[in-house]
Amino acid sequence: MCGIIGYLGDREATPILMESLKRLEYRGYDSAGVAVLELPKAGHANRTSITKSEAKVDTLIEKLEANMPSGKLGIGHTRWATHGKPTYINAHPHTDCHGKIFVVHNGIIENFAELKAELEAAGHEFPSETDTEVVPHLIEANYKGDFLAAVRAALKRIKGAYALAMFSSDDPELLVGARLNAPLVVGLGDGEYYIASDITAIIPYTKRVLVLGEGEVAAVTPLGAEVSTLDGVTVKSKVVHVDWDVAQAQKGGFPHFMLKEIHESPDAVANAMRGRLTDDGAVTFREFDVPDDRLRSITDVLLLGMGTSLHAAMIGEHVIEDWVGIPARAEDASEFRYRRPTVGDHTLNVVITQSGETADTLVALHQAKERGSLSVAVTNVIASSAARDADGAIYLHSGPEIGVASTKTLLAHMISLYLLAVRLATVDGRVSLERRRELVEALRALPDQVRGILARDKEIVELAHKYSGYRNFMFAGRGLDYPVALEGALKLKEISYIHAEGTSGGLLKHGPIALLDEQFPVVAICTASSTKDKMVSNVHEIVARSAPVLALVTEGDHSLDGVPTDIFKMPAVEEAASAVLNTVMLQLFAYHVAVKLGQNVDQPRNLAKTVTVE
Ligand code: F6R
Repeated sequence: MCGIIGYLGDREATPILMESLKRLEYRGYDSAGVAVLELPKAGHANRTSITKSEAKVDTLIEKLEANMPSGKLGIGHTRWATHGKPTYINAHPHTDCHGKIFVVHNGIIENFAELKAELEAAGHEFPSETDTEVVPHLIEANYKGDFLAAVRAALKRIKGAYALAMFSSDDPELLVGARLNAPLVVGLGDGEYYIASDITAIIPYTKRVLVLGEGEVAAVTPLGAEVSTLDGVTVKSKVVHVDWDVAQAQKGGFPHFMLKEIHESPDAVANAMRGRLTDDGAVTFREFDVPDDRLRSITDVLLLGMGTSLHAAMIGEHVIEDWVGIPARAEDASEFRYRRPTVGDHTLNVVITQSGETADTLVALHQAKERGSLSVAVTNVIASSAARDADGAIYLHSGPEIGVASTKTLLAHMISLYLLAVRLATVDGRVSLERRRELVEALRALPDQVRGILARDKEIVELAHKYSGYRNFMFAGRGLDYPVALEGALKLKEISYIHAEGTSGGLLKHGPIALLDEQFPVVAICTASSTKDKMVSNVHEIVARSAPVLALVTEGDHSLDGVPTDIFKMPAVEEAASAVLNTVMLQLFAYHVAVKLGQNVDQPRNLAKTVTVE
């Protein structure tokens, strides 16, 4: 999730780009850059000045203040690295072979490797490791004197997600924006125009914006903004008036980052799959490109993580055993590091860490590595310690997570582990083509299904308010939904400070049930699975102890009809998909309980986003 801004107007572009990037920094902050078309001196050709920093926006601003380019057209970018490390060369804007076309990008170009190979064969040179760099070169390759036509032709070739702001130094009065699967707005000022990844960037300048639709291109000139499709058909876009302040805009209008991030889950799920999965379920990980033979030699999988990431590990453990048929174990990294680990060179060690910097997880990774295991970090942060220290990385591509409690990145972890399980099962020949296709279909349907749960926020608010008076909670589930229950309890306790524990349905009778009475509610995950009937029996046992029950039940399942419970109906989906949807529901439940109790959900007491000490 990068921040992008473009400006065309009567004022100096550079200070506007600088201020906008500062406001966009919450979207990504590992490097930044601007390109400004400088006012031509008489008799000279147009010249574009590029300033980049491999550090935060402040460093870029210092550089610009020392050497301020003067011009009325420019673009800027603050980067959350997806392809290529946060280096000077990889910082945007990117340009073509002749330094005429300038592009900033947010998103992921799925087919960049194929396009890059084609362009390289035609003589284009690519200094950076980014996916973005194919865009200016592709435009250059299609350029026949009309920049907009070249942009359209280039974008028709691109698969994936993009929000782009672009210009050519041959067209000093044309700023172009385009989007697909990533947001982009055009700000309409007084004789000046902006293109931005979100309105946070432009809110002090204008409250009037055009929101581009999927696959639309905006051509901005001093005469106005014209929106069209990639085929050049004019689109009539609606002007929207926004009355947010900067803080509201950064939260996308949501009251908290946590809620905003839960609402980013459909994108987090889609981005974790982007470019990695074919219709036939063939999975590729660019930064964990291990030959089939090496993967075939894997005899067991060790998954390490802490907190929410440990719950992701437990979900990974379950699907790897189930789909791949080899032993898998999820371990609390802080415990693992003090044991005598039984791992060897046929072990695959999967470290699960959003930040890539959790101290216990890193030490556990090093220990497993020392014993010769093949390691992969599943992380959201490019070039984080975990990504660097492991043999390979699977990046989540979720964009920064600002709320201390992990939400969208857990979903991306789950999807990544599902893909890893499919990859392992495929090399082992353990999964049929038909089953793989089924899984692909289930996974691809997930972003919309997550949207479906988010759309039912009101129902969840009602339940949360009804239950917010209790001081203790139990969350129970089985199979894949056991870690989901643990996570439901963790989310609730960390942001609402209500005591909550998670248990497997089976374990309930072996102790935890002693706690239950009419003041101790249970959230029971009873959605369709091979152990659903067992969970239904557990609910009967719970109800018999007079404990209030909130049950998650698959639509069309009547097993709990007539049993005194609150029911939240979940869609009938594949079990692995159901675990994702159940997680989203429980995240929203925890969020609304905490808000009702007036807690600081984004920064809960005693917690840090990244635990870099033991
Ligand atoms: C809970 C939460 C923590 C983290 C844990 C590991 O909401 O966010 O439990 O999951 O501290 O962090 P990472 O994934 O960065 O290693």
